[in-house]
Order: sequence, then C-alpha cells, then structure tokens
Amino acid sequence: MAERIPAALEEKFRSRLSFYQDIGIELFYRDRFPQQYASVTEEITLPKPAQKAQPAKATAPMSPAARKLDVLPVSPGVSLFEPMNKIAGDSLPKILADIGDCTRCKLHRGRTKLVFGDGNPKAELVFVGEGPGRDEDAQGLPFVGRAGKLLTQMIEAMGLQRKDVYICNVVKCRPPENRTPEKDEVETCSPFLLRQLDAIAPKVIVCLGSVAAQTLLQTNRGISHFRGEWLDFRGRKLLATYHPAYLLRNPGAKGEVWKDLQKVMAVLGLQVKKGSSAGAGQSTGKSS
Ligand code: URA
Repeated sequence: MAERIPAALEEKFRSRLSFYQDIGIELFYRDRFPQQYASVTEEITLPKPAQKAQPAKATAPMSPAARKLDVLPVSPGVSLFEPMNKIAGDSLPKILADIGDCTRCKLHRGRTKLVFGDGNPKAELVFVGEGPGRDEDAQGLPFVGRAGKLLTQMIEAMGLQRKDVYICNVVKCRPPENRTPEKDEVETCSPFLLRQLDAIAPKVIVCLGSVAAQTLLQTNRGISHFRGEWLDFRGRKLLATYHPAYLLRNPGAKGEVWKDLQKVMAVLGLQVKKGSSAGAGQSTGKSS
C-alpha cells in the first residue's frame, strides 16, 4: 500500500495546487523537460563564458540547445512556461479578477495600487517592464514616471501611441525602494504575465531590461548577451532591449535601443521618418 505523506507536506501541496488553480493552471505533468526552452535557445548562439572543465554529472536531461543558454533551474518537474498550459478563452478581465486583491507574495504589504497593465488588449506589440515604481504604485498604471515618459517618447517615435500597444510588468506590486523583484516574487507573479501575453497574443514582445528578459527566457545570462536579437517565446517574436530607466542614467545607449526598436518596426510594418530617433518622437507610421 502506498505510504501517506505527512499531513504538513500534504497541506503544502494542497495550497500550492490551489495557487496554481487560482492562476488558471490546471494541467500538471511529471518528468517533462520544458521543450520551449529549447526553441528559445536554438535561436541564440551565445558564446559560452569561460568555465573550468567540470566532471560530467548524471543530472536531469537537458537538450544540447538549452545548455547553450545556461538556463536557470531546469527542473524536470512542472513548468509554468509550457505552451500547453495556455488557457483557452482566457482574457485580461479574467486574469485581473483572478489576481484579485492579491496577497500571494510579500510585495502586497507595501502596495498602494496593484499595477496590472494598460493599453490595447489586442495589441500587436507588448512591452514588458520589471515592476511598478513610486508613480505607478500611486496611479495603478505602468510606466507613468520618468522612465515611463521616455518609454512613451520611444513608442511615439515608432509612429505609435501608448493606446496602440500594451504595457505591463513582471511583478504587479512595487518592490520596496524600487529594489529588483526577488525570485519568489517573480515566481509568484510571472504566471499572470504569461497569461496576459497569451490572452493578448501579440506579434512582438519587447522586454525592457534584464528582469523581464530573464524571466521570459528563463535564463540567468545578462541582457547584453542577447539584446537586440530576435528570440522565440512560446511561438512569438521576442526582443530584449535596455530598460528606459537605464537610458535615463546612460543616455548614450539610446542609439542602441532605437536600432532595436527599428527592428520591431520592420516586423510590424511601421515606417521610420528620416531623422527620427528614440526620444525625439518624430516618426510617422501606421498604428497597429
Ligand atoms: N519601471 C518598470 O519596470 N515598470 C514600470 O511600470 C515603471 C518603471
């Protein structure tokens, strides 16, 4: 007869499963390697950082392609990132309702307003940031502070308006003192981001900064290794570029970001007006 697991552990499993159900994930698989990591990594040929030779270990199977990216903990267990966990008929209002008055992680304690996301629910282009700052927390809207103003200029330089695109973050509540969201906070909140991306089904996802990129690509590689490259995310085109807050501190990097955005424009069929650059807001083009 199968042994019963201890009551405390059973309770832990029960609450973890009900959390997954809350976020809309009802299918569970055991002993599966998350295949889409491979598709992400196949498109990136990253130079491997210099490493001491390691003795071969008998660990969980990893595809050769996944190894290229130094993928973060690739446990052979359940992956919330598996495309097959897409929820049929999901929608932004349903996701918002499922988030509710969220207390799932410690970030809720310092929150004024939860920042779900904003823009066109059918956008062809989604920008994903890291997490709300002070202004966003006060207004309940993403990217409305200084970095947000720069993002708005960048969007307008692409010939679009904010209402044409969708803007959201990895975590929906402001981290204290705008610190980087912690692993448990990202793990708790990012399933809602995945649902948002699936519900919107954009042509292109632009990750603003390393937290968004590392979360969606499930990598611990620095953004500079793959910034400006087209990558695959669950069958969609994903490009990572620098965060607007980084550009405020390093305006010299604006040109790189503008080149990245021009790649996005080419895919979306947007026209660049001569002399236009990020932050100038001078280009025209068709909106999505
Ligand atoms: N920075 C982010 O990453 N997101 C916001 O919404 C604002 C600033």
